[in-house]
Amino acid sequence: MIIRSAEFVKSSTKLSQCPPPDKPEFAFIGRSNVGKSSLINLLVSKHGLAKTSSKPGKTQTINHFIVNNIWYLVDLPGYGFASVSQTTRAAWTKMLELYLLKRENLACVFVLIDSRHEPQASDLDFITWLGNNQIPLSIVFTKTDKFSKNKMQVAIAHYKNELKKLWDELPTITVSSAETKVGRTEILAIIEEALETSKS
Ligand code: GTP
Ligand code: MG
Repeated sequence: MIIRSAEFVKSSTKLSQCPPPDKPEFAFIGRSNVGKSSLINLLVSKHGLAKTSSKPGKTQTINHFIVNNIWYLVDLPGYGFASVSQTTRAAWTKMLELYLLKRENLACVFVLIDSRHEPQASDLDFITWLGNNQIPLSIVFTKTDKFSKNKMQVAIAHYKNELKKLWDELPTITVSSAETKVGRTEILAIIEEALETSKS
């Protein structure tokens, strides 16, 4: 897919503030610091469009970006180890849950997982929750530049085994790196296919 334009639309703190649900939407979620905002910038080739930071907890709202004037990319806050208070974390969880359950134009949720870590309960629980609620998902292993190809393949195979314990059918899985730009074409192809399906 050719990206002709990508613009920030708005930040929302609740579902009712989000732009009208009149275009297919693709959201990026995962633990804090996994690389959601960096991956969005990679996909649209616009460094700095989504704000990134080495400190976990940078993205705190639902951020809409419009691409080619026909679909939305959404950058979400992370779950997990963000150094925010219990109360704030509970509020984010509620906001995310409502957004994921009720956003009617949500075409796919990309769940990002740091390829260097052992399977974490918070990620597996979240993937299970999405599946139970029939929310379409795709998994992306991030930061694969930090790994040798061999180690990465072993880690991903290990992860797939964990997922197979929960699901008969696995979602699509891609690998990415905001550094080497690997994964960009594959993720855009998944989005393009979903856009085609949403038309028919
Ligand atoms: P929150 O908004 O805090 O939840 O984080 P996030 O998931 O949006 O992560 P973000 O994109 O802000 O990236 C976090 C840190 O990881 C930054 O220092 C990035 O430069 C770094 N990073 C992101 N993607 C990659 C990658 O593919 N490879 C490497 N080496 N570093 C990455
Ligand atoms: Mg972010």
